[in-house]
Amino acid sequence: MSFDTTAANRLLHRFDDHDSLWLFGYGSLIFKADFPFIERRPATIGGWERRFWQGSHDHRGTPDAPGRVLTLVPQAGAVCDGMAYLITPQVFDHLDHREKNGYLRFTTTLTFDDGGSADGLVYIAMDDNAAWLGPASDRSIVDQIDAASGPSGRNRDYLLDLAAALRALGKHDPHVFALETLLLAPALHPSSEPTEPQ
Ligand code: BEZ
Repeated sequence: MSFDTTAANRLLHRFDDHDSLWLFGYGSLIFKADFPFIERRPATIGGWERRFWQGSHDHRGTPDAPGRVLTLVPQAGAVCDGMAYLITPQVFDHLDHREKNGYLRFTTTLTFDDGGSADGLVYIAMDDNAAWLGPASDRSIVDQIDAASGPSGRNRDYLLDLAAALRALGKHDPHVFALETLLLAPALHPSSEPTEPQ
């Protein structure tokens, strides 16, 4: 159910000739930057969409009751908004550990909202990783998120914090905002449903 990707990530890239690198954040890295960075700039990457399709057994859930967190899935023509961080290579030790439940680093081109572009890295959990959950109805995703909690806090706060962070950046993500709306909608109970006059 979980698979530690720390060692695999260490083999993926050599940072010897870099003083700093760009990292693209599209999920918790937007609202929880618990690492030192040199600068950050709103940015996008092309060809990927956010989805709550990755299981979280270590942060927003447990092995018995996993939560759902974000990954990216390929989608031709899509543009994913996020935050770019310029960091030193040493920061990857922390990030590889934090994102060890199935995420691998990939190289990509970042386009900065204020102009220009740069090569950078992004963590993505692919559909062959052991913690992959995959697609489900919005209702079932929200029910799982609402119920789950782990060492990093409630899964629902991950969704709400992400939606708030995207809104603060002036970004719209239909998948995230639809789940947020469903999560915050008052629950329908049989007793609150309209009844036919007798
Ligand atoms: C991100 O915010 O970029 C991110 C989300 C999940 C795992 C790793 C990174």
